[in-house]
Amino acid sequence: MAAFPISQQQTTRISAPDLRRDLDLTDDELAGLLDIALDMKQSPRDYAHALDGKSIGLLFEKASLRTRLTFELAIKQLGGDSVFSEGPIGAREPLKDVARNLDRWVHAIVARTFSQDTIEELARWSAVPVINALSDLYHPCQVLADVLTLKERFGDFAGLKLAFSGDGNNVAHSLMLTCARLGIDFAIATPHGYEPNPEIVAQADGLAAVSGSTLLLTDNPAEAVDGAHAVYTDVWTSMGQEKESARRRKAFAGYQVNDELFALARPDAVFMHCLPAHREEEVTDSVIEHSRSVVFDQAENRLHAQKALLLMMMA
Ligand code: CP
Ligand code: NVA
Repeated sequence: MAAFPISQQQTTRISAPDLRRDLDLTDDELAGLLDIALDMKQSPRDYAHALDGKSIGLLFEKASLRTRLTFELAIKQLGGDSVFSEGPIGAREPLKDVARNLDRWVHAIVARTFSQDTIEELARWSAVPVINALSDLYHPCQVLADVLTLKERFGDFAGLKLAFSGDGNNVAHSLMLTCARLGIDFAIATPHGYEPNPEIVAQADGLAAVSGSTLLLTDNPAEAVDGAHAVYTDVWTSMGQEKESARRRKAFAGYQVNDELFALARPDAVFMHCLPAHREEEVTDSVIEHSRSVVFDQAENRLHAQKALLLMMMA
């Protein structure tokens, strides 16, 4: 299958509003989505019929607790219906056929895939919106909930600093892009060989120049975390990388978010993690259980952010 270069993933297509990647939402759409999400959280009943008569297909190639359940609940709470399928997408038949079956039955497709190419191909052939529920490159739905959590906690985005210690992975990419466009300073500390994708870094750099925020890549976690309002980490071994896990544990040993590292952030800093967490690997039990850990607020906000996203894309 042909790869889709990141540089060609730039068009925002309002007429066929996919969320293949974070930048498919315009700045205005992102700001509006966060406002709607907060309103939905406050007044869920006002939206109880928003998706009446609409069905959504969930296609997941990988395991999920939060994403699957919050999408299913979001759809139910908006009055819609969902169907779920787990397993390889496009193994029994071409992706273009999968997409053109689904779009005869459902009004949107939510897909969790190994490869971003699968998302791109589904979106290319589907007449209904395709939402990326995690790929190897991005996790946009997670980051919508994350910035909603920051908005609730700190109000304004301008002047905030978010530090990420660990792997330059899908979650790091989505965070980097969204922080850069929202004016949040972003610093990421990774070991050599695990830096974020250079094309995505270049995109984030461009966005940061426009918003006036800073973007720092370093191999030093203390430098990244210094003065941060939020300290974020994710697993060192993502789904699909299990064979590399011994090598990764070694490479990331100095990148754990522990009490010592967390103490270098601001005194009011929050700890963030998309979950699931591997305690005592990327984060200590003491930090994830800290009074300033907001990991379950993030998980709760998955529901509200995705309800707002579905409403924007489908209503
Ligand atoms: N954070 C997140 O996406 O969790 P799941 O893998 O459980 O969906
Ligand atoms: N980076 C992790 C995120 C899981 C929500 C993974 O892709 O497995």
